Amino acid sequence: MTYAYLNDIFLPLEEVKISPLDRGFLFGDAVYEVIPIYEKKPFLLEGHILRLQRSLEETRISKPKKWKDLEEIFLELVELNETPNQSLYIQISRGVDVHRSHLPTEDIEPTLFIVSFDLSLNPYRSDNNLEGIKVSLQEDTRWKRCDIKATTLLPNVIALSDAVFSGSQDVIFYLNQEVTEGASSNVFLVFEEHVFTPPQSKKILSGVTRNHIINLLKDLNLASTEKVIKVDDLFKADEVWLTSSTKEIQPVSEINQIKLSVTPPEQALWKRVLESFHK
Ligand code: PDD
Repeated sequence: MTYAYLNDIFLPLEEVKISPLDRGFLFGDAVYEVIPIYEKKPFLLEGHILRLQRSLEETRISKPKKWKDLEEIFLELVELNETPNQSLYIQISRGVDVHRSHLPTEDIEPTLFIVSFDLSLNPYRSDNNLEGIKVSLQEDTRWKRCDIKATTLLPNVIALSDAVFSGSQDVIFYLNQEVTEGASSNVFLVFEEHVFTPPQSKKILSGVTRNHIINLLKDLNLASTEKVIKVDDLFKADEVWLTSSTKEIQPVSEINQIKLSVTPPEQALWKRVLESFHK
């Protein structure tokens, strides 16, 4: 059985009931986080909490009453759900309103919903024969505040389902010939052992994994630069990676049905960085 947490209580997921007047349901008026749990321990927890706090501030959604107890609640839920590796989903909506109005009623209590699912470990950790991910390039039609981790993900959902429909597995978005990010990941490129990723801006989510990798690269004495990446660069790079809390680092082998010249994992930088990912 999967357990969840709603506002003040832990309960089986199938017993969770949220009002249809919840603004998360009506307007997508909600923010969220996904935190990987390895062997029952949250990974990079502080980065996720800080980003959640920022998403709340940017949307003026109030902090839930239990804000200070979040870590304790996470750990209790992780214990209730038995598997060692989980992806913990936290959603905070502006709350249940008295009627449907774009303008929220003042002082409504935010809805705090948390659940965790089994996390399948990144297969690229262990399988060197696995082909890289096939992605399709799609124009970034999302809003201009992609730095906020909001639940309003319809453009991402459509882009991903179009990609899968056309035989790809994932998406890389571009805006005016500039690479922004994946449908649910950040993008990195390698040119001659120098790693590049688009700079932080409102066009991308500041990935907790992205920022961890930038720090790891420094520790490994590898050059990294945050810089605008052009669509053409994707086809010239030695390596293209997608990164996220659930993917960790995964290599891309094909874009728009064009095969990239893939560096074998034993020589690839992504593999080296992945090996030090949890150290
Ligand atoms: N998504 N960009 C987008 C649009 C994302 O949705 C995500 C993560 C990332 C990577 O962020 P992080 O490294 O902090 O996970 C970048 C999560 C995993 C999701 O929505 O399920």
